[in-house]
Amino acid sequence: METPSLKTEPQSADPAKPTTLTVPGRKVSNPVRRRTFLQRILCAMSGFGLLGAFYPVLRYIEPPPESEGANRVEIDAAELPPGASRTILYRGRPAVVVNSAQGYIAYGGVCSHLGCIIKWSPAEQVFICPCHGGKFNVKGVVLGGPVPRPLTAIPVSVAGNRVIVGA
Ligand code: FES
Repeated sequence: METPSLKTEPQSADPAKPTTLTVPGRKVSNPVRRRTFLQRILCAMSGFGLLGAFYPVLRYIEPPPESEGANRVEIDAAELPPGASRTILYRGRPAVVVNSAQGYIAYGGVCSHLGCIIKWSPAEQVFICPCHGGKFNVKGVVLGGPVPRPLTAIPVSVAGNRVIVGA
């Protein structure tokens, strides 16, 4: 029994010109393009697979949008004696509330440099970012470090013995 032989036409110098495969009894066109197409499909499927694997990680790293979470947080004034601070969750993000010498103040707690959480230093009366030494004064103004923008102020009011952060 004779086995059918596969022949390809001599390849053209032009890579855009399709190669033709000749099988006795029929003509198969563009076998290379079909292989390339299948390779691209496999690459795309691999890409979607990787995206699916990393999506939960990206969602975990990214802070939630500001629309999520409470936009009004009440704190018992007894929990914030003069000079004390407290880190709360305001609109889904950390915020720092301080009972400073100028009264109650609150700022978004995420450093504008690379997103670390700032802390209040009662000894120095400044906010400090522990990551790269960013420093902010009691008005949220940048005093030092690689920080590009000041802190975002959050309105604070007092009603009776409650400190109210936010609207
Ligand atoms: S993240 Fe705050 S100084 Fe770099």
